[in-house]
Amino acid sequence: MNQPVTFFIDGQVIQGQPGQTILEAAQDARVYIPRLCYREGLSNFGACRVCTVLVNDKPVAACTTPITEGMMIENDTERVQNYRKDLIDMLFVEGNHFCMFCEKSGNCELQALAYRFRIPAPKYLFQFPQREIDASHPDIFIDRNRCILCGRCVRASKELDGKNVFQFVGRGTEKRIAVNADQLSDTDAVVTDQAMDACPVGAILKKHIGYTIPVGKRVYDHQPIGADIEDSAVASDT
Ligand code: SF4
Ligand code: FES
Repeated sequence: MNQPVTFFIDGQVIQGQPGQTILEAAQDARVYIPRLCYREGLSNFGACRVCTVLVNDKPVAACTTPITEGMMIENDTERVQNYRKDLIDMLFVEGNHFCMFCEKSGNCELQALAYRFRIPAPKYLFQFPQREIDASHPDIFIDRNRCILCGRCVRASKELDGKNVFQFVGRGTEKRIAVNADQLSDTDAVVTDQAMDACPVGAILKKHIGYTIPVGKRVYDHQPIGADIEDSAVASDT
């Protein structure tokens, strides 16, 4: 059997398994590291940097960096949390996230992170981009104004659905999510594809089910994002 790897997060001794990333090993130890582009069951992408931690004072993405013996990690400290807060802030102003009008409100991971990080309003200027929507598909809707380029739909379509419905096109500020046809209705996407459940925000939405779960009864209406990871510590320690 493989020897466990012993490392430290904010001074706490943690043992993980060889080959685990910092994020995975921390999660097993019930330490929450914020994340957006990471999704269990998908390959790691390392795009959003919300999971940034400091290792020997150097910023690394916890979702792509493997644990090593004796590693000293800084996770829940003011400077790390401020860095993440800035990233979350920038995601809000770079797109058009009108939470009060979005069907994803209460189930949105970006919105939930803003609540967790106590961001009442972004400190940067809104850019108000104008991006395409695609309502061509009878059951699925894409609003690129809310896309945070996390790539979860791209990976879920390829790795779980065995399709390549979504890809990135363009570079820099022109980068956006695209489909492998002129519009979504011309692809082989169906509403039961796992890619349609992978979006952390309201950029990919299913039609006909809006507000089936009323606002106020959604997942993050009841608990902060990450509480499920942290709460399990309370449950199993008692
Ligand atoms: S559409 Fe959603 S899942 Fe796909 S890249 Fe944009 S935010 Fe991520
Ligand atoms: S969750 Fe690690 S870079 Fe996005």
